[in-house]
Formats: sequence, C-alpha cells, structure tokens
Amino acid sequence: MNQIGIIGLGTMGANLARNFASRQIKTAVFNRTIETTKEFIANFGGEGHLTGYETLKEFIDSLESPRKVMLMVTAGPATEAVIEQLAEILSPKDIIIDGGNTNYKDTIRRTEQLKAKQINFIGCGVSGGEKGALEGPSLMPGGDLQVLEEIMPFLEQIAAKDFNGNPCVHPFEGIGAGNLIKTVHNGIEYGLMQVLADAYEVLRKVYNLKPEGIAEIFKDFNRSELNGFLLETAIQVLEKPDTFNKSEKLINYISDEAGSKGTGGWTVEAALEYGVPVPTLAASLFARQLSAWPEQRLKDKALFPRPLADQITKDPLDIFTAKLEQAVWLSCIVSFMQGIRLIDEVSLKNNWGVYTGDVVRVWQGGCIIRTQLLKYFPLIENGKLLESKLPTTTNSLAYVYSIAAKFGVATPALSNSFDYIAYSTDPNLPTNFVQGLRDCFGAHTYKRNDRDGVFTENW
Ligand code: 6PG
Repeated sequence: MNQIGIIGLGTMGANLARNFASRQIKTAVFNRTIETTKEFIANFGGEGHLTGYETLKEFIDSLESPRKVMLMVTAGPATEAVIEQLAEILSPKDIIIDGGNTNYKDTIRRTEQLKAKQINFIGCGVSGGEKGALEGPSLMPGGDLQVLEEIMPFLEQIAAKDFNGNPCVHPFEGIGAGNLIKTVHNGIEYGLMQVLADAYEVLRKVYNLKPEGIAEIFKDFNRSELNGFLLETAIQVLEKPDTFNKSEKLINYISDEAGSKGTGGWTVEAALEYGVPVPTLAASLFARQLSAWPEQRLKDKALFPRPLADQITKDPLDIFTAKLEQAVWLSCIVSFMQGIRLIDEVSLKNNWGVYTGDVVRVWQGGCIIRTQLLKYFPLIENGKLLESKLPTTTNSLAYVYSIAAKFGVATPALSNSFDYIAYSTDPNLPTNFVQGLRDCFGAHTYKRNDRDGVFTENW
C-alpha cells in the first residue's frame, strides 16, 4: 500500500512527490490528464517508490488507512472540484492536505463541510518554489492538532532544515492557520522584494549604476546578515545576460509591469479586517498595481520632470551604500515585524494556538523569505534588538529615502518602513488633530491626554 498520495503533477506537485519518494515513502500520484501521469512516471518512476494511477478510485484504493492525500492543485475552483470528488470516495478519518496557496477562509469552510463526512482537512502552506519542493520546502500545516500529528512524520522527512538542523515544519493549531501563515509569508515576500527593488532603483537612478555594479553592491550585502534567498536571487537576476542583446543584461529588457496572484492582497485584506497596520507590505502590493498602468505612466511622464542625477549633492557611493545597507536591513526587519504582528493578532482573535516563534523558525530554511535576519526573531519582539540598532539604522533609512525623493525617485517600501518606525515610536502623534477634526464635523468624540473620559464639543 502507498503511504501518501499526491494529486496534481504540475511542477510543485511533481517535485513534492519526488521528494517524498526519495525518502523511501511509498507515494501514489494522480493527475487529471493521464498523459501527464504517464510522462511523470516514465521520467522519474525510477527515483523511488512512485506509482501513477489513471483513475481517482484506483489512486485512493492504493493508499493505506487513514489515507493521506495531498492536493497540489491551483487554488480556487480547481481545488474545490477535486475536494468535492474526494469527499465522495474517501472514508471517515482520511486526511486531505491542501498544499496550494489557498485563502484561509476557504480552508475554514471546507474543514466544516468535510466534518459532516468525518473526513479531516488540513491547509498546508508550502514555500520554496520548484527547487524547494524537490529538495526541501518550508511547510506550514494548520488545523486540528491530533490530525496534524498524523501527518507530521511525513512532512518532517521532506522539509528543509532550520538554523539548528531541525525540519522546517510545525503543526500550527487552528483551522486555516497554515494558510494564513503562508499568505502572510507571501505578503512579507512582496515587502522584501520591494525593499530590494527600491535599493536597485536608487542605485540606478541616483547613482547611475548599471546592473553589474548594483549586483556587486548586493553581493556585499549578501555577505552580511542580510544574506538570504531573495538577495541571492536578486544578484542572479541582475547578472543574467540578455539572449537578444548579448552585451547587455536581461534586466534592462524586462517590462516593468509587475504581476501578483492574490496572496499579497489577502495579506492586506487580513490586515484591514484585524486592524493591524502593514504599510510596507501594502505599499509593495500597491507599487505592483501602479506598475500595471504602463500607458498612464507614459502619458503622464511630463507632469513630473525629475532633476538630473548630477544636480544634487549626494554622498560618495561607498558612504551611501553603507547607509543603504542599513536602510535595507531595517526595512526588511520592519516587513517581518508587520507580518508577524498580523499573524499574532489573527491567531489571538481566532483562538488559534500559533506561537510566532515557531513561524519564524519554520521560515529559516526552504522558503522564499529565508534570511539570516530571522535569527533576530523573537528577540525583536521584546524590543532588545531594536533598542540597540534603531537609532543608526533609522537615520540611514531616512537619509536614503529622502535623497531618493529629492531626485524624484519613489521608494515605497523604504519610505513606508520609515513612517512605520517613526509613528510607532512617537508618543505625540498628529492624530490628536485628526480627532479634533472628527469631533468638529461629526461629533465623533475624543479622549483627552490630561483626564479620563470621552468628550465632545459644541464647535
Ligand atoms: C513560495 C512563493 C510562491 C509565489 C507566490 C507569490 O513561497 O514558494 O511565495 O507561493 O511566489 O505565489 O506569487 P505572486 O508574486 O505571483 O503573487
């Protein structure tokens, strides 16, 4: 009998199946298109115990009880359809594990629906792209603890390793918790990517550097504690030569219209719903959305003439890059802080048992946002790290984004990270003024800073 079954042999599903099979786990695979299954078995069947099935029934019958079926199908209607089919043929106590980028609210609904048939459901965040799926992803399964314990031995074998060599997987208690954690992982991913894009933008537009020059600076950053997957990827992207214009870099020919598939937006939706500010992550999403209006941007170009790079005094490059490194450092930390605070609040409000220290540990390896910076969490949560590093890094961040602004260059992730730090450390915000306005035009009431109670004025 097979020990686990994978449905969906797209790149992620295929690589996860190969990963399971390479750990001597007997793995069944099924794909809607039979040809894909045959091709997969022809290519990889020799790698371990991998068996392909042509019908869902045969696939299900091949699994030992309680069955463990992992869905690696596109989130949304495709996943819904497979779950409906499975609900008809699975038995009580069987477990469906959804490994797609699913909205946690769908997982809550599906778990409830399947409960009527006593079928267990786990939403499992999977991060790491194709390579991670094959060699070791970061896994974020969430649901009922008892059910999670049944699948943990399998997930532990295929997961990446954290800084201490332990598997990057944790049973997150709470229906939907795994998907929410993966969603916020992606929201942070948007933030970190925009931080790097902002750094690239300043270096190319304020210092006129070419991709290869920027790659060298990023390599320096990557030798520090900023070291991480996205920075490594950034260097690779900057250094890639173009196929058509051999002497130039590909990056100069990639269109600036950025895509997004939904999870960044879900992060912002959750932030709004739970009242947890995530300005860096939101600004990173909105930057992508603004980028997707190319005609408008071209049409309006003349409305905002930028000063030329040599018209404004600026630091010599080596002094600037030292400040930029600190600005990037702080903005990355802030991106993580915003995401972690969001997870904490959603967990609290839903009575989940998620401890963010476990989340951070699971992100130490395998996933897209893995970075050495994660060694600081949860140290950051009790403020110790920020106390020592905040003054210099905040000054650097302020300098970098303000010099960019002088050149007419936007750095949405950096500027919003600065605002986040500046606002969240200021005991005397101008929001007293907002409160005054609210009470003046709408009798919305206000609190005072010298006495208790709620007040309103006859303005
Ligand atoms: C991962 C990635 C992966 C993907 C997201 C975001 O952890 O392996 O996060 O899930 O990058 O789908 O994609 P978009 O940028 O297209 O929204």
